[in-house]
Amino acid sequence: MERIKQKYIHELARFEVQKNNNRRLWNIPQQTAELLFTLVKVKSPRHILEIGTSNGFSTFWLSLAAETCGAFVDTIEVDEDRFNLAKKNLENRDNVIQHFGKAELIIPDLQNKYDFVFIDAGKINYINYIKLLINKLNSNSLVVADNVISHKGTVKEYLDYIESSELFDSVTLNIDSGLNIATYIK
Ligand SMILES: C[S@@+](CC[C@H](N)C(=O)[O-])C[C@H]1O[C@@H](n2cnc3c(N)ncnc32)[C@H](O)[C@@H]1O
Repeated sequence: MERIKQKYIHELARFEVQKNNNRRLWNIPQQTAELLFTLVKVKSPRHILEIGTSNGFSTFWLSLAAETCGAFVDTIEVDEDRFNLAKKNLENRDNVIQHFGKAELIIPDLQNKYDFVFIDAGKINYINYIKLLINKLNSNSLVVADNVISHKGTVKEYLDYIESSELFDSVTLNIDSGLNIATYIK
């Protein structure tokens, strides 16, 4: 990962400054970013969906991995300031399509089917996102949800659903805020 971090040293430094100046960006930790990057590279998806762009830090890492397999990243953000900040931060990323608005309203209109989804928006809504997403997942797609340990109570309905559903096999990793990684097996 050092080679990539060196290559994008200026972009990553800018994210670091923004994060230090604004605690309400809630960017994923570096370890989670690198795990996402690795999962995308291994999975080699065609279409990636991210719910919760913030200023685009996780989007940036998804985009770097997407570039290695010719994939595209759709990403959704409801907060206008963060959406615009992400627009600046991602202006050189050709494979990112930003959507502004509530994920609950945008997901039904998305035209793609996804092979990789990263959920990192309103925790209470994870259950709604996944239900809206079901008919937009390709077989064997990966759905990665953040904060499943840090916000265990709030995402309980999501976890209960994922863990009991015959449509998913899943594992929760105790790294950073807790990541649930689910495979859609239909
Ligand atoms: C944890 S932050 C995302 C951090 C980002 N993934 C990163 O690591 O750089 C969650 C973001 O989701 C956004 N959000 C919350 N509810 C949302 C919704 N219903 N639809 C779209 N975005 C939402 C918030 O405005 C916030 O910017």
